[in-house]
Amino acid sequence: MSGRTVIVVDDPQQLAKHAADLFLKEAETSVKAGGRFVVAVSGGSTPRAMHRLLSRGPYDKTVPWEHTHLFWVDERLVPYGDDASNFGTARTEWIENIAIPKAQVHPMPVEVQPKDSAELYHKEIEMLFQKLENGYPVFDLIFLGIGSDGHTASLFPGMSLEKTKGKWVLPVKGGEPHVDRLTFTFQLINRARHVVFLVSGAKKAGMVAKLLGRKATKLPAEFIRPAKGKLTWLLDSDAASQLS
Ligand code: 6PG
Repeated sequence: MSGRTVIVVDDPQQLAKHAADLFLKEAETSVKAGGRFVVAVSGGSTPRAMHRLLSRGPYDKTVPWEHTHLFWVDERLVPYGDDASNFGTARTEWIENIAIPKAQVHPMPVEVQPKDSAELYHKEIEMLFQKLENGYPVFDLIFLGIGSDGHTASLFPGMSLEKTKGKWVLPVKGGEPHVDRLTFTFQLINRARHVVFLVSGAKKAGMVAKLLGRKATKLPAEFIRPAKGKLTWLLDSDAASQLS
């Protein structure tokens, strides 16, 4: 891992702005270096302010959407129109307002059996990557959230590196809502060039302090250690309030 950075900003609005600026910067860097930007985002409530910002000026015009491929790190296997759908929420608040080619928006399939969905998504990712690193594709940027139980993506407590080894996408069940889900694996996330934990609010402060502390927690988020890439914790002051 090329180091861990912790950035604390004042409030959720600043967090969204900082995250959107980081998204833009990584997009410009990736397109300059390799002609495209392959990014995966999380669901949940925290990233929604960033998504809304990215759908407005200046980001709607400055992000190179025509060279961007957008994936999700996890999804609840519910219809896209359901309030619990990560893609459905992003589609309404973000995707519909930006000029990203439809074929470059890659929602996780939800109308099939979980196992088939995992296989389909693996193939969809594979089509985009001619070369792999250690058997995994290298995303340019992956945004993650943290649950107050230490989960990230839909990798819940009890998930281990062993259980997800060799896989890119897995069907799981759990979380809130407790439904069938699909999730990127630790190994796929850890291949990314840059992984960003986006965390807001005092409710997460205890878990943030635990995960950034020295003691091993064996919680899923602790297993996010990019092999070669950067790891950034982007926190608002409430989420960082228990850091020593
Ligand atoms: C999901 C998310 C999940 C989320 C955390 C934090 O689909 O549930 O991907 O991993 O990032 O649960 O959620 P909040 O941002 O709503 O606190």
